[in-house]
Amino acid sequence: MRTQVGIIGSGPAGLLLSHLLQQQGIESVILERQSRIHVEGRIRAGVLEQGTVNLLQQIGVNERMDREGIVHEGFALAFAGRKARIDMHGLTGGNAVMIYGQTEVTRDLINARLAAGGVIHYEAPAVAVEDYLTDQPRIIYEQNGSPKELICDFVAGCDGYHGAARRSVPENKLQLFEKIYPFGWLGILADVPPVDHELIYANHERGFALCSMRSHTRSRYYIQCSLDDSVDHWTDDAFWDELRRRLPPESAEKLVTGPRLEMSIAPLRSFVVEPMRFGTLFLAGDAAHIVPPTGAKGLNLAASDVYYLARALTAFYTEKRTDLLDRYSETALRRVWKAVRFSWWFTTLMHKFGDDLLNHRLQLAELDYLAGSTAARTAMAENYVGLPFEKFE
Ligand code: FAD
Ligand code: DHB
Repeated sequence: MRTQVGIIGSGPAGLLLSHLLQQQGIESVILERQSRIHVEGRIRAGVLEQGTVNLLQQIGVNERMDREGIVHEGFALAFAGRKARIDMHGLTGGNAVMIYGQTEVTRDLINARLAAGGVIHYEAPAVAVEDYLTDQPRIIYEQNGSPKELICDFVAGCDGYHGAARRSVPENKLQLFEKIYPFGWLGILADVPPVDHELIYANHERGFALCSMRSHTRSRYYIQCSLDDSVDHWTDDAFWDELRRRLPPESAEKLVTGPRLEMSIAPLRSFVVEPMRFGTLFLAGDAAHIVPPTGAKGLNLAASDVYYLARALTAFYTEKRTDLLDRYSETALRRVWKAVRFSWWFTTLMHKFGDDLLNHRLQLAELDYLAGSTAARTAMAENYVGLPFEKFE
């Protein structure tokens, strides 16, 4: 089999890239390890930056998002019995974020790809990328138990942190940066109305809590948990009781509880690989970087990476230009590192780090500063709504 751009992974990065390329008349094939049902069932992120929304609108995958997504112009920080609102809209000159689940984005993108005649091979795990230092890289993959090969002009490794693309490059060619945080997030999804119309991020002496949502009738809540915790240790009631303890009293009183639709634990990690390009192999999204979820940046970084990559591949195919491909890694990493920094900062500000009382006092001082300083809140709002995509002419 042969194609112009071989894409490994049908998460948001791979699907968006494939659709952006098709709009420019560039052919691609997606290889996905899991089944379509598995990919569509994963519960992950929920916050889209304006740049991600714009990109989905640009490729015409916005009909359901525009109808069902909820625009949020602010969020709350709760700490020490107080609440400070970050007025994203007012502080950034009119920017906001959209609440629309990654699950829904993925479903919309898969439907759009298939309706446009896009090729996605499910249950077709890539094993390795070979010959990526030539102009004819090959993806070795498996399908129905047989080894196969996809010959390409370029390969996009959009296969997440555990994928095969990055692992095809010798370790001595990669510079890895990694930090594992000493806690996880226990998340619940339930068909109950959200406790508030905006998100609440709570710093509490028992640990962090986050009140989020998927719609006016479906809530997503998280609490900080220990790394060795397991969902088997948690009944629904135990989760709701612990969440209530960590919320401001007026929110705790209003909390509506119900049976879980899903409960899961996610570890927290900061990770970046440099560079993001190796010959004709390009990494995008979680394959190249992971952020702890606090800043809601993971999915949005996947979108900005593939925006840059699609732009560079388009310049190659339509104008025979290679300079944008040459600058892809540097351009993408500039935005990546700022989101890694913001996610690390917000994580450090909001979580309980053991019994480190000095750390807790420093967090409270910084939260008090944020509550009282328009400059500090502006910096936070600007990062949360998403830094602009670089114009890449
Ligand atoms: P992915 O969505 O991971 O897609 C990669 C795809 O590649 C997958 O479909 C995978 O099956 C496939 N794949 C892997 N290996 C192979 C292979 N060898 N061959 C073929 N296919 C392969 N972000 C937030 O902002 N907020 C959150 O609450 C949040 N929660 C998360 C919870 C979990 C459990 C995880 C894992 C991530 C979460 N994230 C969250 C991060 C966010 O979901 C990711 O940043 C986003 O999915 C990145 O998109 P991607 O397309 O790069 O990677
Ligand atoms: C959600 C996840 C996040 O990490 C975040 O910062 C905000 C919302 C969510 O899943 O809804």
